[in-house]
Amino acid sequence: MTTTSDQSQSSGVAAVIVLAAGGGTRMRSKRSKLLHEVAGRPMLSWAVNAARGLDPQHLVVVVGHLRDQVEAQLAEDAPDVVTAVQAEQKGTGHAVACALEGLGDLTGEVVVTYADVPMLNTQTLQDLVRAHRSAHTLATVLTAEVPDPTGYGRVLRNGEEVVGIVEHKDADDAQRRIREINSGIYVFDAAALRRGVAALSNDNAQGEYYLTDVVSMAASGQIHGDDPARHGVGAHRTDDLWQTEGVNDRVQLSRVNAEMNRRILEKWMRAGVTIADPTSTWIQPDVDLGQDVTILAGSSLNGATSIGSGAVIGPETTLTDCEVGQDVVVRRTEATLAVLGDGVRVGPWANLRPGTVLDQDTRIGAFVETKNAHLGAGTSVPRLVYAGDVVIGTDVTVGAGAVFANNDGRTTSTTSVGDGAFVGSNVVVVAPVTIAPGAFLAAGSAITEDVPADSLAIARQRGHISTGWAARHREQMAPPADSDPRSDTRNHISTPEDHS
Ligand code: UD1
Ligand code: CA
Repeated sequence: MTTTSDQSQSSGVAAVIVLAAGGGTRMRSKRSKLLHEVAGRPMLSWAVNAARGLDPQHLVVVVGHLRDQVEAQLAEDAPDVVTAVQAEQKGTGHAVACALEGLGDLTGEVVVTYADVPMLNTQTLQDLVRAHRSAHTLATVLTAEVPDPTGYGRVLRNGEEVVGIVEHKDADDAQRRIREINSGIYVFDAAALRRGVAALSNDNAQGEYYLTDVVSMAASGQIHGDDPARHGVGAHRTDDLWQTEGVNDRVQLSRVNAEMNRRILEKWMRAGVTIADPTSTWIQPDVDLGQDVTILAGSSLNGATSIGSGAVIGPETTLTDCEVGQDVVVRRTEATLAVLGDGVRVGPWANLRPGTVLDQDTRIGAFVETKNAHLGAGTSVPRLVYAGDVVIGTDVTVGAGAVFANNDGRTTSTTSVGDGAFVGSNVVVVAPVTIAPGAFLAAGSAITEDVPADSLAIARQRGHISTGWAARHREQMAPPADSDPRSDTRNHISTPEDHS
């Protein structure tokens, strides 16, 4: 999936102001509410991306509460965005005034959105701007008709015309029965908005400067723009209620996450992907899936993961930023920044860490951990292996319990294993060494030197067999010291004095 920026779609609004200064106390979090994630991305990033899609001349985020965290996140994924500081949260109207201060005498349209409404998308904002342009109004409000409007500002209408917005706390009983709510997302004529926020008072139930009062002022003719042809206020109603859903606590956060995921899964199922258990499957928005991919229960596909056609992923598998080829099978596995060629089979219970590259038809079995490891085509690592910092050729077999020891406590080194080599069970290959093609490493060996092509390397104590010893041991319980079977395999300890 790629997103293309289509210039003909560009709305060219003067500015988008994203309000992000509010508290978020109901999250009960040390982290800014806006950094909590929906589908793996901070809510703030969703809001900024939706705004950026309008291609505005200015993109301003109003910051205040936990400002350092919010600014750090913006610096990371949206360095082009300008921030305006609202030191004290005196209301949405005041927040917009803080943003306008830095923008001078702007002309054109100003869109206002919230940073805590993660499902709002560019398409809806474009529709809103289009409605605003065709109606020649001073403001257009994005509204929705909801089953329970409690807490929201209500849209007061006279037919098609919007005559004002009243906050829940300021509304009378008749107004509270209105189910059309203000989403808090608007397009304003820049001049009218400037005049409106300058004229705001905080004489209301919450003692705040309400942006909604600018809407009422524009509707009543109290403020005007520079273009006399523009007057009044319009509404653009959306049927997709999720697009206006704000997140104030972690219950709402999980609901929005579930809905976002449900939509992503549905898109993939309609595109030819089998998802065995949608309730336990999570797919992030940048993931790309081929035809006839099957995802089994309990699996998560994250980041920029792509999966080739015919692959079977899961159950209980998490892939993050992985590139997976066609007809691959990955069972009960964790993998990050790994590349899996066509026909590769992994798992169950493998851990593929960053830098793992598995060429075509390689096989990774149970309890194998790889890191910065390139395995050539047809190579097989069936079970119980650590392969860190290693380049392995084609058609190599690595036995159970083999360890590619890559770190001596200070530095990390790389090992290479040539095509067709055989690494026996329980071999420790101490990097850096080069194992040439066709070499045979005997089981239980500790390999510390390079091994030439087609040779046998054996590096272990020869076994010793005492005939009848066990029977005597059972009889005597305490065998004499000189027949101790451990005497020829006793550990050797080098003390510092040995080297002085
Ligand atoms: C606001 C609207 C209400 C609408 C609702 C939709 C007003 C007066 N009311 O109410 O009509 O139905 O949104 O969700 O605008 N913020 C700041 N600085 C502030 C205050 C708020 O940046 O001083 C930001 C918040 O971070 C938040 C957004 O503005 O993202 C909305 O603020 P909030 O206090 O939640 O507004 P509501 O009372 O819900
Ligand atoms: Ca709110």
